[in-house]
Amino acid sequence: MKIGILISGRGSNMVALVDAVKSGEILDSEVAVVISDKANAAGLEKAKDRGVEIVVVGRNRRSREEHDAEIIAELKKREVELVCLAGYMRLLSPGFVQAFPNRIVNIHPSLLPKYPGLEVHERVLAAGETVSGCTVHFVDEGLDSGAIILQREVPVNVDDTVESLSARVLEQEHGAYVEAVKRIVSGRL
Ligand code: GRF
Repeated sequence: MKIGILISGRGSNMVALVDAVKSGEILDSEVAVVISDKANAAGLEKAKDRGVEIVVVGRNRRSREEHDAEIIAELKKREVELVCLAGYMRLLSPGFVQAFPNRIVNIHPSLLPKYPGLEVHERVLAAGETVSGCTVHFVDEGLDSGAIILQREVPVNVDDTVESLSARVLEQEHGAYVEAVKRIVSGRL
């Protein structure tokens, strides 16, 4: 299965997926391209170091639809079948979602449906939650609202900061994303 990964920043989930494909943990697949909407995304260098083709598709004051159309074209050109959002910080247009029906997935650092959107860990801590975690889900036209594939929980400690909690969740994200993509690629989903 040809995989395309969209990033906007650090790219640690992207690295987890690329490494799992390269090591054979995710079988019968290839990361065909890593696309970023930000030219300065730190993840780009990490993808390049791993021999994965990188493409920057900047927004350049275009509408969401125009921007997405260029990304769709880059993905289709490489016959990408599965799109993995990995810290991609833009909401997809309906046209993008429809271009890859049930074949776009995302990782989110909360136990959805709780805490969709941004500043997740801040809100989890402010609410006094004792458990948090991450969710891999299919992408639909809403915000972090598509069908859930899998979740992993972590404890929230009384002395947690945004940094300590996000690090604990991120550790689970990498394994969760690899597991979810494995299930999709192997046809178990
Ligand atoms: C992760 O916490 C992910 O859940 C969220 O954005 C962050 C991206 O981190 N969607 P990275 O770029 O994969 O390191």
